[in-house]
Amino acid sequence: MNQSDRLKQLVSRQFEGDAVFLFWKGRVGLYAILKAWGIGPDDEVIVPAFTCVVVPNAVLYLGAKPVYVDVEEQSLNTTLRRIEAARTGKTKAVICQNTFGLSSEVDVIAGWAASEGLLSVEDCTHGFGGSFHGRPNGSYCDAAFFSSQWNKPVSSGIGGFVVARDAKLVKGLSKLESQLAKPRRSELVSLNVQLWARRKLLTDGTYWTLLKLYRWLSKTGVIIGSSSGEEIDSVTMPKNYFKGMSELQARTVACEIAKLDQHNQQRREAAVRYSAFLAGHGKYHVDAGLVEDHMFLKYPILVRNRDGFFRAAEKFRVELGDWFNSPLHPVQGDLSAWGLDIAGFPNARRIATHIVNLPTRSNSDRVVDFLNSQLDELM
Ligand SMILES: Cc1ncc(COP(=O)(O)O)c(C=O)c1O
Repeated sequence: MNQSDRLKQLVSRQFEGDAVFLFWKGRVGLYAILKAWGIGPDDEVIVPAFTCVVVPNAVLYLGAKPVYVDVEEQSLNTTLRRIEAARTGKTKAVICQNTFGLSSEVDVIAGWAASEGLLSVEDCTHGFGGSFHGRPNGSYCDAAFFSSQWNKPVSSGIGGFVVARDAKLVKGLSKLESQLAKPRRSELVSLNVQLWARRKLLTDGTYWTLLKLYRWLSKTGVIIGSSSGEEIDSVTMPKNYFKGMSELQARTVACEIAKLDQHNQQRREAAVRYSAFLAGHGKYHVDAGLVEDHMFLKYPILVRNRDGFFRAAEKFRVELGDWFNSPLHPVQGDLSAWGLDIAGFPNARRIATHIVNLPTRSNSDRVVDFLNSQLDELM
C-alpha cells in the first residue's frame, strides 16, 4: 500500500469510514469541496469574518460570493443566529470554523443547514484530534477540511485533507481527485529541506530567528511559504494551485497522527493552566465551559499594544503567534477586493486588533512567567 492510501485509511478510521481525499494544502481541499458541490457564479457561501484569506479566496476562485458573518468575542466563532440573518435565496453553503481548536456551534449549524438543503463545511484546519460535545471535530458537517501546515495539529509543513460523507460530494470529489496536478520535484526538494531544518534546528531559543528567516525566504520565493504573494494581494487563483498531496507529505502526516493524542493532551493541559491564571487576574480568557472537550492548537489572549507585547516576548524567548491579526489574515488594510467592509463586523475588528496567541506545546511555566510580567498589557 502506498503512503497516500495508508493515510486515507488512518484518517477514515477516525471518522467511521468516511471518504478521505488528500491535497497539497487545506485550502485546495476547501476549493474542491465547493467545486464538487457545483458552487459557481451567482452563488453565495457564508464565511466567518475572522479567518484566513485563503478561505474566501477558494469561494472567489469559483466565481461565487463570500458573505461574511461576525464572530463572538468568547468563542472566536460565529453563531447560528448570525448565519440565519446572513442567508439569502442565493446561499448554497455555510462554512463553520474551528478557531485555534475552539468549535463554533457546529452541531446546530450543521443541523440547520441540512434542514435547509445547504451544504455545511467545517473548517477544521486548527481542530484535528479535538472534539465537540463528545464527537470528533470534523464529524458534524457534510464535509470537513484539515490542514497539515507548519503549526497545525499534525504537520507535514504543507498539506491538507478532506473528509466527506455526503454521497453527491464524495462522487464529485472522487472525480476531481483524478484531475489534481502532482507537486513539482523542486517543491518537494524544498519541502524536504524545510522539514529537516525544523527537526534539527527549531527550539524555543531559535524560534524568533527562524520565524523571521522563514517569512523573509518565503516572501522572496526561495522556499515554499504557506501562501503565495498572489493569494494575499489578489483574488485571482494562482497557477499550479489545484495540486494533490505527495507521498512525502502523506508519510509525514501519518507519523504525526501517531503522536496526536499525546500532543493534544499537552495542549489541553496548557490551556487549562492559562485559563486559570488569566481568570485569576480578571483578564480575557477562554471560559472553563468552553475548555471542556476542545483541544487548543493555540490559546487566544487580548493585549493592549501588540507590537510592544511581541518585542517583550522575543526578549523573554516566548513563542507568540499573530494569527488573525486581520479579519482576513494576513491581509492588512483594505479588504474590499474580498468583499469585506470591516465597519460591519465590530467584534472581528476589535479581536483582530488585540489578539495574540500563546503556544500550547512549549514550556507553559515560562509562558505564565511572561504573562505575569505583562499583567498591565493584558486586557
Ligand atoms: C482558519 C484557516 N482556514 C484555512 C487555512 C488554510 O490551510 P492551508 O494552509 O493548509 O491551506 C488556514 C491556514 O492556515 C486557516 O488558519
